[in-house]
Amino acid sequence: MRTDTGHVFRLEDYRPSDYLILETSLVFRLSPEATRVTATLTIERRDGVAASAPLVLDGDGLTLVRIAIDGRELQPAEFLATPDQLTISQPPSAPRFQLLIETEIAPAGNETLMGLYRSSSVYCTQCEAEGFRRITYFLDRPDILSVYTVRIEAKLDEAPLLLSNGNPAGSGDLADGWHYAVWHDPFPKPSYLFALVAGALGKVADSFVTMSGRTVELGIFVEPGKERLAGYAMDALKRSMRWDEEAFGREYDLEVFNIVAVSDFNMGAMENKGLNIFNDKYVLADEETATDADFANIEAIIAHEYFHNWTGNRITCRDWFQLCLKEGLTVFRDHEFSADQRSRAVKRIAEVRTLRAHQFPEDQGPLAHPVRPRRYREINNFYTATVYEKGSEVVRMIRTILGTDAFRAGMDLYFERHDGEAATIEDFLKVFEDVSGRDLSQFALWYHQAGTPNLTVSSTHSPAAREFTLEIEQSVPPTPAESRKRLMHIPLAFGLVGADGRPVAYSGVDGATVEDGVIHIRKRRQVVRFSGVAERPAVSLNRGFSAPITLSVEQKADDQFFLAGHDSDSFSRWQAFNTLLTDALIAAFRQILGGGEPVYIARLTELAGRVAADEALEPAYRALALALPGEADIARDIGKGIDPDAIFSAREALALAIAKANEQAFSSLYDRLADKGPFSPDAASAGRRSLRNILLDYLTLLPEGTELAARHFRSATNMTDRAAALTVLAHRHRGSPETAKALADFEAKYGSDALVMDKWFQIRAGVPGPQTVETVRALTKHAGFSMANPNRVRSLVGTFSSANQTGFHRRDGEGYRFFAETVLEVEKRNPQVAARLATALRSWRSLEPVRQAKAREALLTIASAENLSADLRDIVERTLA
Ligand code: PHE
Ligand code: ZN
Repeated sequence: MRTDTGHVFRLEDYRPSDYLILETSLVFRLSPEATRVTATLTIERRDGVAASAPLVLDGDGLTLVRIAIDGRELQPAEFLATPDQLTISQPPSAPRFQLLIETEIAPAGNETLMGLYRSSSVYCTQCEAEGFRRITYFLDRPDILSVYTVRIEAKLDEAPLLLSNGNPAGSGDLADGWHYAVWHDPFPKPSYLFALVAGALGKVADSFVTMSGRTVELGIFVEPGKERLAGYAMDALKRSMRWDEEAFGREYDLEVFNIVAVSDFNMGAMENKGLNIFNDKYVLADEETATDADFANIEAIIAHEYFHNWTGNRITCRDWFQLCLKEGLTVFRDHEFSADQRSRAVKRIAEVRTLRAHQFPEDQGPLAHPVRPRRYREINNFYTATVYEKGSEVVRMIRTILGTDAFRAGMDLYFERHDGEAATIEDFLKVFEDVSGRDLSQFALWYHQAGTPNLTVSSTHSPAAREFTLEIEQSVPPTPAESRKRLMHIPLAFGLVGADGRPVAYSGVDGATVEDGVIHIRKRRQVVRFSGVAERPAVSLNRGFSAPITLSVEQKADDQFFLAGHDSDSFSRWQAFNTLLTDALIAAFRQILGGGEPVYIARLTELAGRVAADEALEPAYRALALALPGEADIARDIGKGIDPDAIFSAREALALAIAKANEQAFSSLYDRLADKGPFSPDAASAGRRSLRNILLDYLTLLPEGTELAARHFRSATNMTDRAAALTVLAHRHRGSPETAKALADFEAKYGSDALVMDKWFQIRAGVPGPQTVETVRALTKHAGFSMANPNRVRSLVGTFSSANQTGFHRRDGEGYRFFAETVLEVEKRNPQVAARLATALRSWRSLEPVRQAKAREALLTIASAENLSADLRDIVERTLA
């Protein structure tokens, strides 16, 4: 485990390395307890650097075996090697020399899942961000680009398959049942993109002909026997390769592209050059074991990692402060891909829901940071929703401001200008300024300033003057270390909607630049006047979610209802309905806190019925509209004094009111939507299933709901329906014999399939109510559970702490106590996963006082534990600060 030095890395301290590593040759002799790694590095002193400059290489827990320069072994006085650093104080005076370093590492005992480790006896690596230094001493920073040649030696029976980056460059047998393979990657790359895999794996093979007619061999490697579960991933890969050619003109560049699925992985997947390594959850799928959401995630993540080949690998990051340069941009690209492959309208709503659920609370709490942070203690803790999701929204805004054509021209220039380089956000913004002639300096604040901007908007209409006026005021709330904020450039897409649902024409506008349906907000307060407007329009704001902001709009309920039924922008139409639901839920929350019963108006529950029945809308869209704001969403919108039990009651009461008001219609629609014909994971079929399953959710609140859910469970022919029914049974009909039977049947059927059992753990961890902490505690002893596997930990403990509001936030603090214990237990093995888990308490200050005090105690318990890792200490201290 990396010890905590307390060191803070600062963007302004960046300076180029004194030395470069032009070529890297690695020889691995693999063995579980003692793998030998021989690195031969061609090192060059950078122009203008004094010959006396010491060479300081990064390490992390390394054991040095041997060191030589230009063929001569170094004497002990010539270097200093600690586990974490190798210093050669007087390198040769020649500008170029060869440094040989031999280290010994033990992949078998490596539970951090960083560097070289074993996952179910397969050797694999994870080097982003700073894992390469756990393999050999190196200049382990992304601006050191090197050409790699890798030779892997292993016992043939233990590891018949030997993979690394680039193209295959030879293989053969060695003495004593060993063999070897050589790989050469012609593209200079940073060390974080290095990968090696060795083991016994099954292969799915295919090929792809690129736009210039080159054939690329594709391989997906999985646990032997699971090959047939990789078909969907392979299909998604080929569609991604085609799409990147068509949408961005980007062609694949090596002779082979391989993907390996492993079952122990800290994140979703990793874009190592030519050899992506995936959490098997995002590769393996069929209708029997995966839900529609799993299929969609696989498609998106396969695409994401593939797209990194250009945005991340060919053009990489100068330093880790620039992480969003590759991540935000690549998320934007995978969002666009999914939008093109599926339904754009539905995809956009889903993206915004995710952003609000994960990024908004981050931005509004103690862990807030800019999309491009200026400081960090532990870079692992900056793979955040802000860097990824908000980072993607910032790229989307650039496209909104420039228009599609100029945006594409900017991207072309980016690839042309920076291919083969380690670039910065400034480089990225510059290409768009250059192609468009626009000044993006105010816009750049989106990268530099944390916090979710708010716009307060009010409107007036003067029939006499035929003038419609919007008064818009912006504010950016203070965030840690940034109390004074500067004014931002916010592209606000809007529409003025007439009584017939059509756009209202205006003859002129002043008070702001308005282009292509977008108001450019740049000042604190702007009064935008539209002239020639005879009738008062309803105003639809932030269409398509053009900016990642919050809105406080003074709007009549009539207008809101009207937009929920008629807005021509599908996102805003969804938003209008969602806002009505949220407002009603918040009012009900206050009624409950005041000792009353929540009341919901018929107009709202009837609108839900109309949305459900509207055949002009896609089923997936209707399903999203009918999904009530989540408990955490409601909490976020309330802001402070949160009592999760009251929120839960308010939400259940609204669901019941909607179900009662629409029983007949929901029931017959539910029947009509039943799957006919063979299973397809395509978006239209998935959309029908999601609408039917949300109707199930409502209908099971009514009498005989338990039987309905049990029937849905028994008759399910795919995992989407089966998991939906099991969720309803476990969450709504806890304690019923039907629920007990379904849980037992599911476990009996899938007990040996770890990925499917994750769903079972998830469902059980999500059961609302105070008793669940005991269930979860007991399930940590379940034979299928393991504290060492990140997927298991996230399914059980992660779901409980970040998706079970009433269970986790139990008033007596028992949920928090269990949480603190478990985080510390996970940390002993895997500090990264523990640190991520610990973020579940980031919004503790918005709780009501009793829970707030208990949550703080739990955080202090973690903070005061001995030998805390840098990862966990960083999160806990920032959360408490
Ligand atoms: N770079 C990976 C991705 O986004 C995420 C990752 C980060 C994976 C660090 C492993 C470790 O695509
Ligand atoms: Zn990524």
